[in-house]
Amino acid sequence: MTYIPTVAIAGLGSRGRHTYARYAEMNPDKMKITALADTNPGRVREAAETFRVSGSNCFNSAAELLAAEKLADILFICTPDSDHYYTAMTALEKKYHLLLEKPISVNPAECISIAQSAKEHGRHVVVCHVLRYTSFYAKIKEIINSGRIGEIVAIQAIENVGYYHHAHSFVRGNWRNSKETSPMILAKCCHDMDILLWLSGRHVQNIHSYGNLYYFKPEKAPESAALRCLDDCKAKDSCPYDAERIYINSTQTGVTAGNTDWPNNVVTDPVTEENLHRAIKTGPYGRCVFHCDNDVVDHQVVNLEMDNKATISFTMSAFTGTISRHLKVMGTLGEIEASMETNIVKTHVFGQEPELIDTNLNNAEISGREPRIVDTAPDHLQWSDTGHGGGDFRMMDSFLKLFTTGGEALTSVDNSVESHLACFAAEYSRTHGGISVPVKKIVELYREYKND
Ligand SMILES: NC(=O)c1ccc[n+]([C@@H]2O[C@H](COP(=O)([O-])OP(=O)(O)OC[C@H]3O[C@@H](n4cnc5c(N)ncnc54)[C@H](O)[C@@H]3O)[C@@H](O)[C@H]2O)c1
Repeated sequence: MTYIPTVAIAGLGSRGRHTYARYAEMNPDKMKITALADTNPGRVREAAETFRVSGSNCFNSAAELLAAEKLADILFICTPDSDHYYTAMTALEKKYHLLLEKPISVNPAECISIAQSAKEHGRHVVVCHVLRYTSFYAKIKEIINSGRIGEIVAIQAIENVGYYHHAHSFVRGNWRNSKETSPMILAKCCHDMDILLWLSGRHVQNIHSYGNLYYFKPEKAPESAALRCLDDCKAKDSCPYDAERIYINSTQTGVTAGNTDWPNNVVTDPVTEENLHRAIKTGPYGRCVFHCDNDVVDHQVVNLEMDNKATISFTMSAFTGTISRHLKVMGTLGEIEASMETNIVKTHVFGQEPELIDTNLNNAEISGREPRIVDTAPDHLQWSDTGHGGGDFRMMDSFLKLFTTGGEALTSVDNSVESHLACFAAEYSRTHGGISVPVKKIVELYREYKND
C-alpha cells in the first residue's frame, strides 16, 4: 500500500481550507490531515469535524501548533504574509517539510534565511508558485526548451488583475495596504516574476520599475459617492466597483448567479445573499473603493535585464475586464504568443505557418480555428477545472509525490528566492524614482531603506 503523507495546516482560509483541504477531501488516498490551526475557532471546528482531527491536534494559532510535538510530515503554511517567516523557521527546526504559501516572507533577508534553513535541516520547501503547474505555461516552457524559436531575446508579459479582483483584494481586502502586508509586486506579481525567470532560463541582473496608485483614492471619487456602497450611494449605478453589484448581483461573480465560491466566501461564511448583504452593509468589503485605507499600486511596469542581456518587460494593471495573463516570447528563430484568457498558445517559427495549441483540451479540436491545432496539453496534466488554470491541484499532485513515489520538485526554494528578490528590487526601484537596481545588492539596499 502506498504511504499517505500526513499534513498539518496553519491558516484555514481561502488557500488552507478552500484549496488544499478541498484537495484532501477529493483525494483521501493522497494526503491525511492530522493537525489544524487558525485564529478563527469556527474555521478550526468546521475543518476538524470534516477531517476527523482530534481536539488535541487543533490549535488557535500556528505558533501554538508549533509549540506542540511534531504532528505531521508536512506543514502547509497558509497564514497571512507577515506571519510566514516565524512559522517557517520554527517549523523547519521541528523538521517539518513545508508547503509554503507565497510570499516566502515580506523581507528579502528572511527569504534567504528560510532557504538556508531548509538546506541545513534537509527539508523540502515548496513555495506555491502554482502557475508553473498549469498546462498553459508547461506547454510554453516545452516549446522554448525544444529550441524551435531559438534563443530568447525579449519577453513581454501583462498581468490583467481584473477590475473586480483588484477592488476586492487590493483596495478593500487583505492585500490593500503594504504596511500591513506586502507590496503589490510581491503579493500578486511574485508569480509573474517566477514564471518569467523560469521561461527565460536565465538569471536576472538589473531591474527598474515605475507604478503608483492612480485611481482608488479620495480625489478620484465621484462627487455623489457615499462612503459605503449601501449608504444610498448616488454614484452606484455607474460604478463597476459597487460592492452590491460585485458580490450579489453580478452574473459573473454574484451570489444570485449561484457563486458561493471566491470572492464571496472571503466576505462571509456561509455564503448566502442575506449574509453577504449584512457583511457589505458594515464590513470592509462594502466600503467605497475611493475611501479605503489602501496604498498598494493599481498599475506597475517592471523591466528586467538578464545575465545574457536579454530583456523582459512586465506590466500589471487593475484596469482590465478579465483576470488573465498575456505573453509574447520573442526568440531568434520564432515567437510565441499566448493568452490565459483562451489558453491558446500560438507558435510562429519564422518562415513557417503559425501553429496553435489548445492547452485546455486533451486531443480535442476547436472548430473554425485557423491555423490548425497540432498538439494538446501534456498527458500527465489532467486537471482542467481547478484553481489557477488547474495549477493548484497539479502542484499538490507533484508536491505530494515527493513523499511517496519520489521524483524531482518542479521548482526549488532557491528559484523562488531569486524571483522574490526580483520583486523586492522592483519595489525598491519604484519607490526610488525608477532607478536601475542590481538584484544582487537588494538585501543591502533594502536594509538601508528600511532603516532610513
Ligand atoms: N499561491 C497563490 O496563488 C495564492 C493565492 C492567494 C493567496 N496566497 C497566499 O496564501 C496565504 C493565505 O491567503 P488566503 O487568501 O488563504 O487568506 P485568508 O485570509 O483567506 O486565510 C488566512 C487564514 O489564516 C488565519 N490566520 C491568521 N493568523 C493566523 C495565525 N497566526 N495562525 C493560524 N492561522 C492564522 C486566518 O484566520 C485565516 O483563516 C497568504 O500568504 C497569501 O498571500 C497565495
